[in-house]
Amino acid sequence: MTDSLSDEKILDSWKKNGKPWTRAVRNREIQSREQVTNQAIIDALLALSPTTVLDIGCGEGWLCRALASHHIECVGIDAVDELITLARTAQPQRTDVTYLTLSYDDFSRGTLHQRFDALVCNFSLLGEYSVAAVLVQATQQMNVNGSIVVQTLHPLAACGDQPYISGWREGSWAGFSNHFVDPPPWYFRTLEDWRALFQSCGLVIEAETTPMLDGAALPASIIFTARVAL
Ligand SMILES: C[S@@+](CC[C@H](N)C(=O)[O-])C[C@H]1O[C@@H](n2cnc3c(N)ncnc32)[C@H](O)[C@@H]1O
Repeated sequence: MTDSLSDEKILDSWKKNGKPWTRAVRNREIQSREQVTNQAIIDALLALSPTTVLDIGCGEGWLCRALASHHIECVGIDAVDELITLARTAQPQRTDVTYLTLSYDDFSRGTLHQRFDALVCNFSLLGEYSVAAVLVQATQQMNVNGSIVVQTLHPLAACGDQPYISGWREGSWAGFSNHFVDPPPWYFRTLEDWRALFQSCGLVIEAETTPMLDGAALPASIIFTARVAL
């Protein structure tokens, strides 16, 4: 499977699943998010005291809305028009949150002429080379002393019973409603490969946190906080 084919497939899938995804997020149907990962990403961002945040792959916009309630100005970008429309209509009166339809390719070409105190990718870095391109461009979109915060499934938990080797994996909507179709493929990375990726993109990891669900054997996710390497 080539990366461009896979990235296309990822986006094709999200274009088909915008409505059920929005319903699942807004009806609080995703247990791990409600129990631990939503608050964990909010806490990781608040710890940086940003005034401005760029949410890359913002989906229906829940994180921008949560950050705006802490008086943080947010821009959310996503390639799926329907998600951006749903995000805009959730709180149309807010002027401190802006949503733009922008793909990672657009972002990586430098089409966003703005810098931010913090950039965030919450379960939104799903591809292979496209992810590296986003991280490289992120270094150009941060204010001095800015950070990027990335939350992703913890590799040890996400690996399942397949070999612990980075590579493309089939997607699955297991645990989601039957309104979801055509799950997106995703690129699995070992912990070591995530760390190497940040480094190769000119970023230094300053913190790694591992949110845990109550009683779970393995972390639900990992949150990397990184800054531009000097
Ligand atoms: C699992 S959802 C996460 C959404 C949101 N960050 C959240 O926490 O609810 C992944 C998001 O990444 C977006 N995405 C995936 N590939 C993309 C690409 N190439 N360009 C822009 N957005 C993309 C999808 O449209 C989707 O909204």
